Amino acid sequence: MDAFTPKPEDRFTFGLWTVGWQARDPFGDASRAPLDPVESVHRLAELGAYGVTFHDDDLLAVEPDRDRAVDAFKRALAGTGLKVPMATTNLFTHPVFKDGAFTSNDRDVRRYAIRKVMRNLDLAAELGATTYVCWGGREGAESDAAKDIRAALSRYKEAMDLLGSYVIDKGYDIRFAIEPKPNEPRGDILLPTVGHALAFINELEHADRVGLNPEVGHEQMAGLNFVHGIAQALWHGKLFHIDLNGQHGPKYDQDFIFGHGDVKSAFFLVDLLENGGYDGPRHFDYKPLRTEDASDVWDSAAANMRTYLILKEKSKAFRADPEVREALVNSRVGELAEPTLAPGETLADLEREDFDVDKLAERGFHFTRLNQLAIEHLLGVR
Ligand code: GCO
Ligand code: MN
Ligand code: MN
Repeated sequence: MDAFTPKPEDRFTFGLWTVGWQARDPFGDASRAPLDPVESVHRLAELGAYGVTFHDDDLLAVEPDRDRAVDAFKRALAGTGLKVPMATTNLFTHPVFKDGAFTSNDRDVRRYAIRKVMRNLDLAAELGATTYVCWGGREGAESDAAKDIRAALSRYKEAMDLLGSYVIDKGYDIRFAIEPKPNEPRGDILLPTVGHALAFINELEHADRVGLNPEVGHEQMAGLNFVHGIAQALWHGKLFHIDLNGQHGPKYDQDFIFGHGDVKSAFFLVDLLENGGYDGPRHFDYKPLRTEDASDVWDSAAANMRTYLILKEKSKAFRADPEVREALVNSRVGELAEPTLAPGETLADLEREDFDVDKLAERGFHFTRLNQLAIEHLLGVR
């Protein structure tokens, strides 16, 4: 036990599909045996996690009978005290979803997809989940001729509106969280970034019940700054959930352990989550490397939580460092919170003001110093 040993109060959660990933990829077969969700629940509880999350189909990894699988899962939860704060639907593995689920050109597929979600919403509510993630992995296209994107968005909205009404009618305490991703498995996926998804949510009938589940790697695959995306989601009051993992820049979805990609971005992300008013679970959506064996899987799960806690400690030390405080003042970081017009002022006051633009342009912001201090904290020399 040390300061970086996770505890349930840290609210770390894992998808059953993360530790349970058998490491099948487009080029190779599985390198690990199927994992019983019951074992995952026990192992994650021993490691100090708070909860697990699941797709409807994840529960059937080793027990094909749904009722029996659900019973065994419930017993494991009761025995360990692990919670289920979030659930989701697999709308991507079965070939029926090859052209999408809510936005398939085939109307029968769309009808089946909505029903599949409804069924798992019932189980999610029963298990106490308050967030329901919608990752539209197959909602997309490879050819611009193949999909009428405006019609697809109308069907996406229709599905979200219907599911919102379903949850309200049933009296479930559940909110939806849309997970953006730019591509993979489709050539292009609808709602590719945090920004696209935020704009889409505005058009929904139950917009107050719909927010986001952004994933580190997905924004970084698009070359975007994940910390900025999370800050904007928070600003809109839409950060309902988060998928933490690691990614090295724009390439395939690597789903590395949290912090094992862009560690500097991970540092600023933890700093934002801890100080920015997010109080949901810290959910890991990563894949244990294909090279790893069954025991390494648990080391990798522990590594996610440990890395988060180390970065949390680093963020505290960074904020408490008197030199950082001074640097923040010198860089005028706090000044941005001040409204540009003072109370009572009008645009006429700007008209009257004497700006010496060249003088203003001479002032430096000293961001280098601030950034170097962050790096030094991160590298452990301060
Ligand atoms: C991915 C996604 C998924 C979703 C999951 C929950 O890139 O495969 O991140 O892991 O998060 O399906 O809906
Ligand atoms: Mn991913
Ligand atoms: Mn994800």
